[in-house]
Amino acid sequence: MKIGIIGTGNMGRILGCGWAVHGHEVFFGARNPQTAIEAADLAQKNGAAGARAGSNREAALFGDVIFYSVRDVEPSHVIGDISALDGKVVIDPNNWPIPEGKFDFAPVAQSLAEKLQAWLPRSRVVKCFNTMAQELFEMPVAELRAQKVSAFIASDFADAREAVVGLARDLGLAPVDMGPLRNARIVEPLGDVIRYLILGAGLGPYTTLKVDVLEPAEAGRFGGRHASAWWARNAATSR
Ligand SMILES: NC(=O)c1ccc[n+]([C@@H]2O[C@H](COP(=O)([O-])OP(=O)(O)OC[C@H]3O[C@@H](n4cnc5c(N)ncnc54)[C@H](OP(=O)(O)O)[C@@H]3O)[C@@H](O)[C@H]2O)c1
Repeated sequence: MKIGIIGTGNMGRILGCGWAVHGHEVFFGARNPQTAIEAADLAQKNGAAGARAGSNREAALFGDVIFYSVRDVEPSHVIGDISALDGKVVIDPNNWPIPEGKFDFAPVAQSLAEKLQAWLPRSRVVKCFNTMAQELFEMPVAELRAQKVSAFIASDFADAREAVVGLARDLGLAPVDMGPLRNARIVEPLGDVIRYLILGAGLGPYTTLKVDVLEPAEAGRFGGRHASAWWARNAATSR
């Protein structure tokens, strides 16, 4: 797959290197050309001979899939004419800034990913990779894969979600389909949860979120689930 990194910062560099080493064609873009060159060199040193570097606009033109790690900045301000991204899958890994070093985040009325989709109406935005720290990707992929770390994926485009399922697996993550992009409103607060645990609670960057589906209990020991009065009332009014 051809992947363009727009905003080669920490996430762009590390995920881009991971995908390049896996065998994808990766083009690192940055506003400072030296930053992009250093990332491509790093990928090459790790065996990805074809990794390339240039401007954010060149990365946009190159990729079929775009990793957009420039938080809350309108793409037209970063790459100019946004038609370069028409029809493309655009991955949004962004989280809101941590307010003043505390963790009293405002409720999400419009997610960063929905905002990006509104800025890019002809692209297919996918929310993913905001719920783990970059440090995880320094681990060997097989070791990370064994840990079954969840990658929550939301998009209005099923084929785009499917493409990112593959890219998450390539990095050693366990994809979790979160349905439409509106659900980025619940995926982004998971980014706040993990940052609270990592930074606020001091558990460190190897703290992870994992979804598991357990086998049902063979025998209900405590009587199972009873319909509540609230449920009965609301089920009746919703008919
Ligand atoms: N790092 C993590 O562990 C992690 C994990 C999950 C999610 N995230 C989220 O991922 C996003 C990126 O995080 P990061 O750690 O990679 O941040 P970072 O290292 O600061 O990288 C941000 C990138 O955005 C670029 N950028 C910022 N403003 C720009 C502008 N106006 N025009 C063009 N480029 C601009 C920066 O370019 P310059 O270098 O030229 O400033 C840099 O390449 C954030 O939303 C963060 O919350 C991060």
